[in-house]
Amino acid sequence: MHGLALPVYDDKILPSTIIIPGGIADQERQIMDLKGKTALITGGGIRLGRAIALALAKEGCNVAIHYNRSAEDASEVRQLAQDFKVKAEIFQYDLSDFENIDQLMKKVNEKLGPVDILINNAGNYKRGNGLKTDLDILHTSFNVNLFAPWWLIKAFVKQLPAEKNGKIVNVCDANIYRTATDHFAYRLTKKGLCELTRMFALELAPNITVNAVAPGIMLPLAGYEHLDMEQVAEARKIPLGHIGSPEIIAENVLHLLNQDFMTGTILRVDGGEHIV
Ligand SMILES: NC(=O)c1ccc[n+]([C@@H]2O[C@H](COP(=O)([O-])OP(=O)(O)OC[C@H]3O[C@@H](n4cnc5c(N)ncnc54)[C@H](OP(=O)(O)O)[C@@H]3O)[C@@H](O)[C@H]2O)c1
Repeated sequence: MHGLALPVYDDKILPSTIIIPGGIADQERQIMDLKGKTALITGGGIRLGRAIALALAKEGCNVAIHYNRSAEDASEVRQLAQDFKVKAEIFQYDLSDFENIDQLMKKVNEKLGPVDILINNAGNYKRGNGLKTDLDILHTSFNVNLFAPWWLIKAFVKQLPAEKNGKIVNVCDANIYRTATDHFAYRLTKKGLCELTRMFALELAPNITVNAVAPGIMLPLAGYEHLDMEQVAEARKIPLGHIGSPEIIAENVLHLLNQDFMTGTILRVDGGEHIV
């Protein structure tokens, strides 16, 4: 072969599939074609989850949009996803209950068949330092942010046909790179989710890749939409000078899904705020 081979995917040239003759990448690549795959996105009705679900639908993925309380938003995401001519269904479950998680995967399989891609995005953000955190807060935080992803990964592996490859992306938090005293339970769960990502990456290779995206501040917290986010970025000393957006996280999730040589990677997307 002479020169560069640039495989074209849906009118786009994917830089990740550039094959350099004689180079270490001069071999058959196994990039997952997202078109026609089925993805389950937890917390897919609002904010980051919504952007991830729509980005996947735009790439031609059928999407299972999980939600808990945001029924109206989830229905809207389903409609917007269907506008991309893919299958889209919504599923309501409280993920703090393991039985619900098994039910969720069962229902998704019934409606959309096996799930190829799992995005563990749902999470809660409980306040309080260590002394102010009680057992209820700790349980709710661990159940939704850490145990639910773990249980869902087990359910995902069980339903994935042996001949198929799978991809998992967990949504962590860039604050895992620092130690602070606020949001005690949340911080513990996200640090745990990062380690879980790396452990499952080892355990599930080579058929399933497990990566994580670690967002910095992407949106104001619900209820704080009135804040001037430029001032917030300044106060937080974000090197790139502004906050992110759900779409940036969606792009980075797609990036992780388009890789065939990355697993156990935590992709920090925070404008440089947590450079260590
Ligand atoms: N936004 C940011 O700037 C930022 C920064 C760092 C990390 N993150 C992480 O990114 C993820 C999404 O955050 P976000 O800000 O987009 O959303 P969010 O406002 O924190 O909303 C939480 C999401 O999780 C779902 N959820 C919460 N408790 C649940 C439960 N018991 N059962 C099932 N689902 C539950 C919610 O579903 P319903 O609304 O349907 O109830 C919602 O979709 C989270 O894991 C968060 O920790 C976000």
